[in-house]
Amino acid sequence: MAAQSKSKRSQEQPLGRFDTAAREYVIGTPETPLPWINYLGGRDFHSLISNTCGGYSFYRDAKLRRITRYRYDSVPLDGTGKYLYIVDGDAAPWNPGWRPTRTPLDAYECRHGLGYSVFSSAKNALHAKLTVLVADDLDVELQALELTNRSAARKSVRIVSYVEWCQWNAEDDAANLQRTLSLGETYVEDGIVCHTTGYRERRSHYAYHAASVAVVGFDSDRDAFLGPYGELGSPASLRARTPSNSIASGWWPIASLVCEVTLDPGQAQSIVFATGYAENAEADKWTNAGVPNIATAKRVAAELRKDPDLVQRTLREQQARWSQLLDVFQTTTPEPELDELVNTWNPYQAIVNFHLARSASLFETGRGRGIGFRDSNQDCLGVVHLIPESVRERLLDLAATQQSSGAAYHQYQPLTKSGNDEIGSGFNDDPLWLVLSVCAYVRETGKLDLLDEPVPFEDTPASQATMLDHVEASLRYTSSRLGPHGLPLIGRADWNDCLNLNAHSLDPDESFQRAPMRTNGRAESVMIAALFVLAARAAADMYKGLGRAAEAGRYAALADDMAGKIESWGWDGDWFLRAYTHDGAALGGHRNDEGSIYVEPQGLCAMARVGEPSGLTARALQSTAERLACSHGIQLVSPPYSRYRAELGEITTYLPGYKENGAVFCHNNPWVIIGETQLGNGDRAMSYVRAIAPTYQSDLARRRTEPYVFAQMVAGTNAPRAGEAKNSWLTGTASWSYVAVSQHVLGIRPEIGALAVDPCIPRSWKRVLVRRTFRGARYEIEILNPRGVSKGVQRLVADGAVADGARILPAPPGAIVAVRVELG
Ligand code: GLC
Ligand code: GLC
Repeated sequence: MAAQSKSKRSQEQPLGRFDTAAREYVIGTPETPLPWINYLGGRDFHSLISNTCGGYSFYRDAKLRRITRYRYDSVPLDGTGKYLYIVDGDAAPWNPGWRPTRTPLDAYECRHGLGYSVFSSAKNALHAKLTVLVADDLDVELQALELTNRSAARKSVRIVSYVEWCQWNAEDDAANLQRTLSLGETYVEDGIVCHTTGYRERRSHYAYHAASVAVVGFDSDRDAFLGPYGELGSPASLRARTPSNSIASGWWPIASLVCEVTLDPGQAQSIVFATGYAENAEADKWTNAGVPNIATAKRVAAELRKDPDLVQRTLREQQARWSQLLDVFQTTTPEPELDELVNTWNPYQAIVNFHLARSASLFETGRGRGIGFRDSNQDCLGVVHLIPESVRERLLDLAATQQSSGAAYHQYQPLTKSGNDEIGSGFNDDPLWLVLSVCAYVRETGKLDLLDEPVPFEDTPASQATMLDHVEASLRYTSSRLGPHGLPLIGRADWNDCLNLNAHSLDPDESFQRAPMRTNGRAESVMIAALFVLAARAAADMYKGLGRAAEAGRYAALADDMAGKIESWGWDGDWFLRAYTHDGAALGGHRNDEGSIYVEPQGLCAMARVGEPSGLTARALQSTAERLACSHGIQLVSPPYSRYRAELGEITTYLPGYKENGAVFCHNNPWVIIGETQLGNGDRAMSYVRAIAPTYQSDLARRRTEPYVFAQMVAGTNAPRAGEAKNSWLTGTASWSYVAVSQHVLGIRPEIGALAVDPCIPRSWKRVLVRRTFRGARYEIEILNPRGVSKGVQRLVADGAVADGARILPAPPGAIVAVRVELG
């Protein structure tokens, strides 16, 4: 059964609600089911911040340049952040974000906006408004605290800040205490606390914490601040009311500043706290006096003092930038939940994913992973219309890690831009994703010159290879690694990392990603076969764009040939098979007692239109609706595996209904959605969108993760906690969902020589508006559906002229084109 429409999002949601006009999510209580986080900073300095001010910061690389500390499995959860304590007379100290004192507040609200968060809270007629954001050009996180005295009496208030430094390498910091506890150093000058661990030796970077007003004291040693067995909820120095002006020497360096304000009734005052990162040139590390040169920190602190409007101005600028960016694609449909998703939160999440890959979230500790090759290429798909230049740069970086054989490192490290095999290698789908992302760039921008850009292969740095050579190498990698049925060899695994058909692990201490692989493994992947069809057709398209018909024909033929193989060997009667094992057994078919249908080949074959004319895709998607879909979305596999099967690998380690073992693994739902739109099933496509999209969810307590972003997985029907989400924020779902909705449901699809407008919508929709900027021209598109169909452009009029079919030729940059589309 396809998922049904969820009940309308209600404005009375007790946990939170969308403020559409402000582009903010408003959280009404600090006690959310899980920390609900936001991301600050879009360039080099990144912070995570929860609705209780938990979180941490890093510079470019969450593992190697961790600035502040976070305890992932702390009790209670969300252990440590950048906290401000407010001490108002003799009353119990409190925090604007409630944690860590957890003093009950008289009022609390947290607004997560695009790259900033604002907390408004009150206690004893003292109101606090805390605005937190990152000033990208200063590499600094700013916390602007505005206190207002709404009582009838004068108030003397102390504000005590707290940040806990991480000793840069997050892995060592957490694990190698015998060393790190004798390294920690701080340096304090002019009321600025600097974290200088490692500065005496090979590091030329430091972090700092400063305030916009004069401080009356500080601490930089955690023991001094907390006291013996102290807790952040009631630090000794707060009780003692005297900062000890401590300097760290080993152990745990922190930064805490103490400021005082006196407020008359009705009076307000603002203080800004800054937590920043700075690098010095080797020759500039020390001053003549032999102390660390903290000129950058002093410059930023001086700026805070002399420019009281800095935070609000930065906020306004960032908001203006976001609204300009998001203006590239805006829609009005009959469903406000969809508008909320498409106009704000989905592109926001997609951009966060593009920057952070899978490094740092509440579920990704930022200690282990670089940027995944396949993940990053897919992340490009949903943001290329917004940040084409950054995507171009990323594509060149990714291609530069590719080998001349077409093989790709599974990951690369953003700080060094070099590939690493820390999480295994030999995932045979990896290279093909580059073809899709390069093609998406070309379709969006029309800039075929990307294909001529020189990018040497990693193992042949002197080669004259171009981006087009990388595209070809990727396709060759697959077509030269075929198994007994002529289907692509799976290698270590394909998109489904957990289907390890060539590495059978019996050692509980072994990582599935690195377990020894059988040499000459013969297991084959139908999923890679379908991806190849998609990629080869995309390559054919690019060759057509280059005017090279012979190559275009060659790739189209390769795609047709592979599609034929899938029809012969990858069809199970009612749906597509998933794979063949090394021994030639079919996997993901009706003969399998568990794992008898997998979603990936159904979605990808439908997207690649494998077997469409003969009705196979329609049957496969019908089976998907009947056997995999549930009210939370489409599950990855059914039935899930109930016991460990070494011959299948990691997928069978997960509890039934979790992760790859039969959760709604949201990432691949959009593939099915796209497939449904290609078949014209607008109602079913939208029912799947409603099932997974955060903006449609009403049972927030069950779901638990943030209601404004997609999660990687939602527990499937076989799990006791069905409907509970996990691994929110960092997931390929963000990009794919955006592509599915904007290009396939709303149907505004860039092509190399045109902009296609070919929607596939629910039959009940009468009218949809889309504003789309494409190659510098703006299209004001009105889609009318007087006959209540889902698909089929009856008539398309662009600037008064009737177009031939569903395509508009690109207008010159600056033009505004009125487009009217009638379905029927
Ligand atoms: C995770 C990985 C992604 C993989 C997926 C399925 O999301 O980041 O690369 O494709 O899991 O296993
Ligand atoms: C685990 C996860 C999978 C992820 C992989 C790589 O296998 O289950 O989703 O892609 O690790 O980190």
